[in-house]
Amino acid sequence: GAPVQIDISKLEEGQRVVREWRGQPVWVVRRSKEMLEGLDKLATEEVLSDPESSNTNQQPDYAQNQYRSIKPEVLVLIGTCTHLGCSPTYTPQPTVQLEFGGFFCPCHGSMFDFAGRVYRSVPAPTNLVVPPHSYLSDAVIIIG
Ligand code: FES
Repeated sequence: GAPVQIDISKLEEGQRVVREWRGQPVWVVRRSKEMLEGLDKLATEEVLSDPESSNTNQQPDYAQNQYRSIKPEVLVLIGTCTHLGCSPTYTPQPTVQLEFGGFFCPCHGSMFDFAGRVYRSVPAPTNLVVPPHSYLSDAVIIIG
């Protein structure tokens, strides 16, 4: 499939945009300060399966860092659950299960934080996948 350009210049803090790339949904979220702080806190609690994203199949090298992204405030993910491929629901506000918000898969209850990191004790085995991407400019991301 051809690379896809996503304009994020109008994307506000806490918002997500969805585009299709190679038949899969790609999500881009502009993370707020609160969302990033939630990620820091979760990394210190023992609730995530792979908080360091040490499974190198789940992201390119340049996204293998604390926030799984090139820029801390911009999250880019394939929006497909790593269990059986449903599309998790964007959950920007905290819930009982998702203390800091994140993504909830309605099919079998898998939960992911705002870096796409999977919680323990859910069916999904791995973090959500970060697709290959780069910045054409501050406003435009190229997927693929
Ligand atoms: Fe998401 Fe099963 S497909 S939890």
